[in-house]
Amino acid sequence: MTTTKQIALITGANRGIGYETARLLGERGFTVLVGARSAARGAEAADKLRAAGIDARVLEIDATDTDSSTRAAAWIAAEFGRLDVLVNNAGISGGSFDKPSETNLDSLREVFETNVFGIVAVTNAMLPLLRNAPAARIVQVSSEVGSIGFLMDQQSPMWSAAAISYPASKAALNMVTAMYAKELWDTPIKVNAANPGYCATDFNGNSGFRTAEQGAQVSVELATLPADGPTGQLWGYRWGAEDDTVFGTLPW
Ligand SMILES: NC(=O)c1ccc[n+]([C@@H]2O[C@H](COP(=O)([O-])OP(=O)(O)OC[C@H]3O[C@@H](n4cnc5c(N)ncnc54)[C@H](OP(=O)(O)O)[C@@H]3O)[C@@H](O)[C@H]2O)c1
Repeated sequence: MTTTKQIALITGANRGIGYETARLLGERGFTVLVGARSAARGAEAADKLRAAGIDARVLEIDATDTDSSTRAAAWIAAEFGRLDVLVNNAGISGGSFDKPSETNLDSLREVFETNVFGIVAVTNAMLPLLRNAPAARIVQVSSEVGSIGFLMDQQSPMWSAAAISYPASKAALNMVTAMYAKELWDTPIKVNAANPGYCATDFNGNSGFRTAEQGAQVSVELATLPADGPTGQLWGYRWGAEDDTVFGTLPW
């Protein structure tokens, strides 16, 4: 099928920031592919989006299951032949914020499996489709918690954070982002890491001081960058900046 509508795939889109990203991109006229590891939870989210007038389809993708990404890419190829936007939003905290000296290796592996290996797997499965689009955008949903510069700044609110699993996974994801940006430097494709800021979702027992929609706005900005927009940056809310509602580039 050929369509002039832009196609966006958002992983982990059945709830939280991913759902809001799908909703906001849908409101901007995208056909949104609701990536979900549970077909049932994905279908429920897609139904809700369609009820709000959004062109939403569900796509079963578990970031830790490479075959599911391969199957999803084959489906997109047959249905649309291209992908305009990939938002790698699926992520886990692992629930462990132990001191480095007390790191649980199983938890560390689990977090890297989703937050790093999973993103590389999904990105590589989707790259041929992204290359088929006129000017694709890849958004890797990261965090300021992955910014070594920010966490090592004694004046930053994150100075007190000292745990390996989640911060190291997002720091690795930041490097992954930079490397894709370099490989794709001479193409129209832009690859950036998003910092949604601290948002109230299930991820943190709804303790965040921003809404999931506010967090999703960062991904939407990066998904819709103009041709002269940046690539290879960690970009989003600047927690600790004088006005923390301002978007900007964060230190790696
Ligand atoms: N909330 C924050 O304050 C915050 C701050 C900075 C960055 N982030 C990042 O933003 C992203 C979204 O977070 P959120 O707050 O919206 O979290 P959330 O409410 O916990 O939602 C996470 C989503 O990811 C999905 N997911 C988890 N593992 C997956 C896998 N292996 N394959 C596919 N989907 C998977 C979940 O699916 P199920 O429903 O099936 O579990 C869910 O849809 C994450 O990457 C997170 O690290 C969040």
